[in-house]
Amino acid sequence: MKLPDGRLPRGNVGWRSNYPRNIDADDTGSFLSITAALAGAVILASMKADAAHLNLLFAWLWIFFGFLSGMILGLFFHRENWLGGYGSFRRRMYRLAHISFFGLGALNLLFWLTIQRGVPLDSLGIIASVAFILGGVTMPVCCVLMAHFPKARFLFGLPVCCLIIGGALSLLLICRNDARLRSAGNPDLDTHQTP
Ligand code: HEM
Repeated sequence: MKLPDGRLPRGNVGWRSNYPRNIDADDTGSFLSITAALAGAVILASMKADAAHLNLLFAWLWIFFGFLSGMILGLFFHRENWLGGYGSFRRRMYRLAHISFFGLGALNLLFWLTIQRGVPLDSLGIIASVAFILGGVTMPVCCVLMAHFPKARFLFGLPVCCLIIGGALSLLLICRNDARLRSAGNPDLDTHQTP
């Protein structure tokens, strides 16, 4: 970094001769943008490697939570008027949360299986992967929130949008890679085929 008169600041000798002694706003800005770009690239690369694997972990965690939530419901459901009775809005929302764990766990498992069939996980695939996880997290949370604050029903828009986006992108990925999917043999099945 040069002084306004064009000279280098005192002390800038040897390998440090181009090293800025005072970091100004411009330097900070470019430093931050380079760091952000690098961090973005690293995050994208690691997500590419792990995104679908996250869906698999999420799937089994959610199926486990489905069992757990069922067990909790099972502790109280013999009470006739628990949460206002079987048909009450609050009880229905709790049931929906319980069922959504299974449904959205299974959905994430299906997404993982689709990727295993050879659909490349490009940026669209990563968005779909994240959308399915976000939808899976927000759906049971919204169900329980709605059970207690029925006016918050607009919150359901969040899981609904995430899941619609995830579904649409998955469809797009499959259509784009249709030829690859058709030609991809399943090695597991091949080994069990009789000659
Ligand atoms: C550990 C395993 C499970 C337990 C302990 C459990 C427990 C329960 C209980 C207690 C209810 C009644 C809730 C109420 O009275 O409001 C219920 C409802 C329900 N569960 Fe589960 N469940 C389990 C697994 C599953 C699985 C694997 C599925 C499906 C994939 C499932 C789907 C449903 C559905 C659809 C309802 C609503 C039934 C209705 O309203 O008629 N559950 N579960």
